[in-house]
Amino acid sequence: MKFTLIFINVLFTLHSITTYSLPFVVFHGIADKCSNGGITHFTELLSNWSGSSGHCIEIGNGEWDSWFMPFPKQIDIACQKLKKMSELSEGYNIIGLSQGNMVGRGVIEFCDDGPPVRNLISLAGPHAGIASIPFCGVSGAFLKTLCSS
Ligand SMILES: *[C@@H]1O[C@H](CO)[C@@H](O)[C@H](O)[C@H]1NC(C)=O
Repeated sequence: MKFTLIFINVLFTLHSITTYSLPFVVFHGIADKCSNGGITHFTELLSNWSGSSGHCIEIGNGEWDSWFMPFPKQIDIACQKLKKMSELSEGYNIIGLSQGNMVGRGVIEFCDDGPPVRNLISLAGPHAGIASIPFCGVSGAFLKTLCSS
């Protein structure tokens, strides 16, 4: 009995250690790039707090491509990069910021044979779609036309 309890205890401890040390990747939002101070700081802060290694994954040149590169291509680039990161092979978490969540979601759905994703943590992600164009309801002929189209 005592041995069994110790064994179970060791198992739980090992489990929490492996869960704790899972690395994470960050996908930034639109018009951002991994080399920007804000996202570098964010990734480092999360890494410090969690004790896990974190990486911001860049897609193309970041800023421009986050606006204009088609999503299937963005997801494919992310997938190829993730597959080359051997430190993710035991599993990892994705932190998505804003539009970066769509990349994260795409990776989970389409990145076949990629390293296993344990959690997608969505910060300000548009997973339920976008209800309206920002500032609709504000007066102005141009916006009224745009919002009602
Ligand atoms: C993370 O920890 C390192 C080492 O303690 C420290 O130098 C760095 O400033 C910390 N980064 C942030 C964003 O808090």
